[in-house]
Amino acid sequence: MKVHSADIIISAVSKKQYPKSSLPEIALAGRSNVGKSSFINTLIDRKNLVRTSSKPGKTQTINFYLIENLFHFVDLPGYGYAKVSKKERAKWGTMIDEYFANRKQLQAVVSLIDMRHDPTEGDIQMYDFLKYYEFPVILVATKADKLAKSKKSKQIERIKDVLDFDENDHFVVFSTVTKEGKEEAWQAIETFL
Ligand code: GTP
Ligand code: MG
Repeated sequence: MKVHSADIIISAVSKKQYPKSSLPEIALAGRSNVGKSSFINTLIDRKNLVRTSSKPGKTQTINFYLIENLFHFVDLPGYGYAKVSKKERAKWGTMIDEYFANRKQLQAVVSLIDMRHDPTEGDIQMYDFLKYYEFPVILVATKADKLAKSKKSKQIERIKDVLDFDENDHFVVFSTVTKEGKEEAWQAIETFL
C-alpha cells in the first residue's frame, strides 16, 4: 500500500478515549525497544510520525494512527522492560487487557520479536495469549539487518519452534534499515482490512 495520509488520532490510557470510529484496527505488540513504532514509520514511509527511541519504554500509551482513512494502526506500549516498577507493570497489564478485551474493531495483531535472539518469556506469553483468544497474528521477526545471512533460516526455525508457531499465521522477516519484508508485511495486513 502506498500511504498518502497518516495522522495520530489519540494517545489513550483508557477505553473511553478510544476513537469512536468502527474502522478496522491492526495492533502492534512486542517487547519494549523491539521496533514497533519504527515498523509503523517504515510501512507508511515516514521517518518520524511515530516517536521512536533507542531507550526502551518510549511508547507508554495506546496510540491510534489513522491510515488513509481506511484503518488504524494501534501502537501498544512494550512489555518486558526491566526498569519499570511493579505498579507500572500492573498499569501496562490493565491497559493491554482493556484494549484486547473490548475492541471489536481489532482485526489482527502484528507481534514483533527481535530476530537476533530466541523469543523471550514475554514473547512466548504474548503469542500464547493471542492464540488463546484467537486473534489472527502476523509474526514479524525484526532487526533482520543485524543477523548474518547464513544464520537467518536456522533462526527462523528456532523462533517458530520456541513459540510453537501456528503455520496458519503469517511470518515476515523484517528490517527498518533494509526495508526487507515491507511489501510482505503490507500484503499480510491487507488481508485483514
Ligand atoms: P517502545 O516504544 O519502547 O515499546 O519501543 P518500540 O518497540 O516502539 O521500538 P522503537 O521503534 O522505538 O525502536 C527501538 C530502537 O530499535 C530504535 O533505536 C530503532 O531505531 C531500532 N530499530 C527498530 N527497528 C530496527 C531494525 O529493523 N533494524 C535495526 N538495526 N534497528 C531497528
Ligand atoms: Mg514505541
